[in-house]
Amino acid sequence: MSKRTTYAGLVDETLVGQEITLKGWVQKRRDLGGVIFIDLRDREGFCQVVFNRQNIEAQMDEADSLRSEYVVEVTGVLQKRDPESVNPKIATGEVELMATKLTTLAKAKTPPIYVDSDQKTDEELRLRYRYIDLRRQEMISNLRLRHQVTSAIRNYLNQLDFIDIETPVLNKSTPEGARDFLVPTRREPNSFYALPQSPQIYKQLLMGAGYDRYYQIVKCFRDEDLRGDRQPEFTQVDLETSFLSQEEIQDLVEEMLKEVVYQVRGEKPAAAFPSITYAEAMSKYGSDKPDIRFGLEFKDITEFAKTTEFGVFRGAADNGGQVKAINLKGLMDEYTRKTADALLDVVKPYGAKGLAWTKITEDGFNGPVAKFLSDDFEELVGLLDGEIGDIIFFMADNEKVVADALGALRTHLGDKHKLYDEDELAFVWVTDFPLLEFDEDEKRYVAMHHPFTATQEYNLDTLRNQPEEALAQAYDIVLNGYEIGGGSIRIHTREMQDEMFKLLGFTEDQAYSQFGFLLDALEYGFPPHGGLALGLDRLVMILANQPNIREVIAFPKTGSGMDLMSNAPSAVDRKQLRELNLSVKAPRKAKEDK
Ligand code: AMO
Ligand code: AMP
Repeated sequence: MSKRTTYAGLVDETLVGQEITLKGWVQKRRDLGGVIFIDLRDREGFCQVVFNRQNIEAQMDEADSLRSEYVVEVTGVLQKRDPESVNPKIATGEVELMATKLTTLAKAKTPPIYVDSDQKTDEELRLRYRYIDLRRQEMISNLRLRHQVTSAIRNYLNQLDFIDIETPVLNKSTPEGARDFLVPTRREPNSFYALPQSPQIYKQLLMGAGYDRYYQIVKCFRDEDLRGDRQPEFTQVDLETSFLSQEEIQDLVEEMLKEVVYQVRGEKPAAAFPSITYAEAMSKYGSDKPDIRFGLEFKDITEFAKTTEFGVFRGAADNGGQVKAINLKGLMDEYTRKTADALLDVVKPYGAKGLAWTKITEDGFNGPVAKFLSDDFEELVGLLDGEIGDIIFFMADNEKVVADALGALRTHLGDKHKLYDEDELAFVWVTDFPLLEFDEDEKRYVAMHHPFTATQEYNLDTLRNQPEEALAQAYDIVLNGYEIGGGSIRIHTREMQDEMFKLLGFTEDQAYSQFGFLLDALEYGFPPHGGLALGLDRLVMILANQPNIREVIAFPKTGSGMDLMSNAPSAVDRKQLRELNLSVKAPRKAKEDK
C-alpha cells in the first residue's frame, strides 16, 4: 500500500506533473471505447481518474471490473485536462489522474441509495443505510458545519475561561419536566437510574462548588412526542455562570452566537439582537418563538368587535374572548373565494371554529362576511392599516385559540408567500416569561421553565398571593421561529427553593426525597447563579438551511423514536430481564423485516 498524497477532492494544478496516490470510493465509471474513466470520491470531493492501455496495460481488466462504491487506491501522474474536457463545475475540473497502478481495496454491492446525485431518496431507506447516506456531499457538509459550530463555541467559551466539565449520564429520576428514560440495574433490583433530560441540577451544584463558569456540549434524553425539531436524544450547549446578571448572561450568549455566525457565514451580525417580552410575543405573533423575518403582526380589534353587529365577533368579544386579524398586504388577487376558505384547514387543528376573511377592493369589503362589516368600513380599515388590494383574516375565540390558530396561519402565509429571505438569520430574545403555568390535567401549577428558576422581584409575597402574576428571570433565544435556547437566573437559597416546591404542590417530604441533595447544598454557601442551554441540533439545522434536525445528526431516530439501522429499541433476552429482576407483560411482536 502506498501512502495517500492528498484527498481526491483537494487535488489541484499545483500537483500537475507529480506522481500521486489517491484512495477512496468509485463514484462513477464510464467506458469510452478502450479508455476507462472513474470519479474517485472521498470526503473532500472527487477527482477524475483515467485508465488507458499506454499507461496501465496489465490492469485494464481490473479497471473495467470497478463498480460504484468499490474502494480503490490509484497511483498515477496528475495532468491538466485538454481544454475541451475541463469541467468548471467541479473543484478538480481542470485536472485528471493518469493511472499507472490500481489496487482494489474492497468491493461493494450495488448501493440501495444514490450517493452522487441530488435525487430524492426515501428517508426510511436513507436512515436504514445511514452509513451510505452519510457519504453524500450534503450530509458531509451538514456534519462539517456542525463541527464548525461546536468548534467556534468551544473556542469562544474557552477563551472566556469557561471550564468544560462532564456530568453523569446515570441520574436520579425526577418527575418534573418531560418523561424520563429509565435504566434498570442488576445491582439494585426494582431501582432505576434516569438518563438526564439536561444537566440542570449538576451544573447548579458546580456553581455551589465554585466552578463559576462551566460548559458542556452534552447529550440529553427526553421521552417525549417527536417532531421535526425534536429527537429523543439531542445535544445541548449547556452553560452556567455565577455572579452574573441576566443581562450579562444574555450578552455573553449573544456574542457567542454572533461568533458562530461569523465562523460559518463569514459575516458578523452587527446589530444587537432584538428583545421582546413573552406577553408582547404572544399578543403580536401568537407564539413565544416568533419568526420575525416577516411582519404579519396581529391587529387586535376586540374593542371594535364589541360594537359590531356581526354575531361571531361580538359573541367572542362579549364573552371575554378576543378578535384579532392579520392583514396580508397586497395579496388579495392571490385568493379566490375557494382558496381563501380552504385556509380553514390550517387553523382548524388549533380549535378554530371558522376563519372569516375579507378583501379590500375599490368597491369596499368583498367576501363572505363583507356584508356584516361594510357599515364600519372606514373604522375597520383604519384599525387594520388596510389598503385596496389587501386580504384580511380574522379569528374570534378565546385567547389561546386565537393565538394558536392565527399564529399557525401567520406561519403558513409567511411560508406560502415567501415573505422572508431564506438566508436571513433573525435572532430574537424572548424575556419576562410567567414563572408558573396552571396544568389543567394535574390541577396544579407547574414551572414554565423549570422549578429552579427565580422570580423577577425575588419577592415571596407576590409568589404566595398571586402566583400566576409572578414573572420569571427567564429568557429564550429564538431563531427564525425556532426556540434554539433557554435559560434563567436560578433560585439560590433554601428558603426560596422550599417555597417554590410548595407552590408546585410538593409536600416537604416529597421535595426532599426528590431534590434533597440540591436543597442541602443550598445551605452550604451557594452563590447567585444562572445560565442557559442551546439546542445545538436546532441551531445547526437552521444554519444549514435544513428542514429537520435529522439532517444534521449522524445517526438520528425516526419520528417514532426508532433507529432503522439497528432496529433499536428492540426486545431483549429473558436472561437479561431476569438479571434485572424485570418481567415484561407479553413478548413483543417480532418486528416485520422490511
Ligand atoms: P430547555 O428544556 O429549554 O432548557 O432546553 C434547552 C434547549 O434544548 C433544545 N431542545 C431540544 N432539541 C431537540 N430535541 C429535543 N427533544 C429538545 N428539547 C429541548 C431547545 C431548547 O431551547 N436546563 C435547561 C436550560 C437552562 O435553564 O439552563 C433546559 O434544559 O432548543
Ligand atoms: P357562521 O355564522 O358560523 O356561518 O360564520 C360566518 C363566517 O364567520 C364564516 O365565514 C366563518 O368562517 C366565520 N367564522 C365563524 N366562526 C369564526 C371564528 N370563531 N373566528 C373567525 N371567523 C369565524
